Amino acid sequence: MAIISIPSSPFDDQKPGTSGLRKKVTIFQQEHYLENFVQSTFNSLGDITGKTLVVGGDGRFHNEHAVQVILKMASANGFARVIVGQNGLLSTPAASVVIRKNNAFGGIILSASHNPAGPNGDFGIKYNIGNGGPAPENITSSIFSNTQTISSYLTLDEADINLNNIGTQQLGKMVVDIIDSVSDYAELMAELFDFDAISTLLADSSFNMCFDAMHAITGPYAKEILENQLGAKPGTVINGTPLTDFGGGHPDPNLTYAKELVDVMFADNAPTLGAASDGDGDRNMILGDNFFVTPSDSLAIMAANANCIPAYKNGLSGIARSMPTSQAPDRVAEKLGIECHETPTGWKFFGNLLDAERATLCGEESFGSGSNHIREKDGLWAVLYWLNILAVREQSIADIVMQHWQEYGRNYYTRHDYEAIPSDIAKQLMTELEQKLPELVGLTLADRTVKYSDNFSYLDPVDHSVSKNQGLRIGFEDGSRIIFRLSGTGTEGATLRVYIEAYESDPDMLGQNTQQALSKLINLADNLAGITTLTGRTEPTVIT
Ligand code: G1P
Ligand code: ZN
Repeated sequence: MAIISIPSSPFDDQKPGTSGLRKKVTIFQQEHYLENFVQSTFNSLGDITGKTLVVGGDGRFHNEHAVQVILKMASANGFARVIVGQNGLLSTPAASVVIRKNNAFGGIILSASHNPAGPNGDFGIKYNIGNGGPAPENITSSIFSNTQTISSYLTLDEADINLNNIGTQQLGKMVVDIIDSVSDYAELMAELFDFDAISTLLADSSFNMCFDAMHAITGPYAKEILENQLGAKPGTVINGTPLTDFGGGHPDPNLTYAKELVDVMFADNAPTLGAASDGDGDRNMILGDNFFVTPSDSLAIMAANANCIPAYKNGLSGIARSMPTSQAPDRVAEKLGIECHETPTGWKFFGNLLDAERATLCGEESFGSGSNHIREKDGLWAVLYWLNILAVREQSIADIVMQHWQEYGRNYYTRHDYEAIPSDIAKQLMTELEQKLPELVGLTLADRTVKYSDNFSYLDPVDHSVSKNQGLRIGFEDGSRIIFRLSGTGTEGATLRVYIEAYESDPDMLGQNTQQALSKLINLADNLAGITTLTGRTEPTVIT
């Protein structure tokens, strides 16, 4: 065994985005590309000698190769132990569980989340810290600086190890523990939820469920927990075998991409509950019989029903949501008399609030929710949460949601995405819009008065760090909002996200079609930002 130092030189495109470094597989396949990023990560972590690292990914194309590269580099850089999911597989939430359970120093997660996979698809890598959550900005910035000056990396002159063999192996001076990818995660879920009540519900012949794993990582987790442990009918989990190209699909659980599930749930005799998760298992979509639950509403309803769930029935310390997420959860927090936090987009901003016990539940409009049980969002956890609510309340999903609106009012909400816009046009659009913002305050637009319009900046109440430029906001006196931001996870040109929200409390106006209810604000957003004029797009690529 020999540790070798390989000379290398910087790539100029290794700045981590909303969730680590995401690029086309072909970019990652360039000689030294992955290695540079891994070495830069290790270089930003201080003394790692003797420490434990967790490694796993969503199983997409390039996953196993990347695991082998990381293992050799971890050994050469002095880690004492690496814990790896069998065959290099760990869902993102499971990786967070394993980091926390083993008090590991940190972990490397290989995933491009919901982005398509395969040789022409995307790949990604991110570092999580010892609390199990995504590295905060001071670490990601340091990784980026290291990528700009790197001149060599350390690795081992060794053969690959067998990632299929559960148990302990030696790699140089380092121990590699290959673990079952599912069991630690499944064990934690059984501690949080009332598995007996959920089993009783699933055994009821009138209750049917369909879980779409979208050919991605959640399949084995969902089959083990839902079918094997909770007794859901065989076949409840569809597309449950993870494929390296996710079956050629786009494993993003939303109304556009989870079409197979949506067709099942909006047909006659649809199941009681439909759910889907994304490529790496941290997102979720919840559907009832012919009914879609908006992720922001899902978070609000989970919070309002925390008393149904063993792990949360003693009360929530607070709720945190990303800025573009609708304000529905705020109303629940207010009623419960607990803190409510508004953070920038990206799960990394929830870590401090969870660690400081200032939030118990967190969520984003982008089909993500989670809690203090780990430091990532968690797709299957959200599904179990809903199952537990259904087991206690014995009502349909639509009834639960509509009852929630009756009590709290409804935050009509939509997100319009314009994908693959030329980056210079997207920048121009945002710059010109930002210049206009100061003049908007006090104007009446779309029958509403503008209360504030700014570029969102976040002051972390725990470590007092400031994150600027987190999205352009136009807020109205009646609580409605239009928000514009550019995606930090895309790999082709720029993606413009426009988030639109309006609150309605009139009991007779709660059942409108969302796009119609928001149509004036949608037109206003287009006019203000000049979307059609600048991009030539007359409609969004994806509406959620
Ligand atoms: C998107 C979502 C964001 C989520 C992130 C990672 O980021 O909008 O809420 O945290 O993916 O799953 P974006 O592409 O908008 O930067
Ligand atoms: Zn994901």
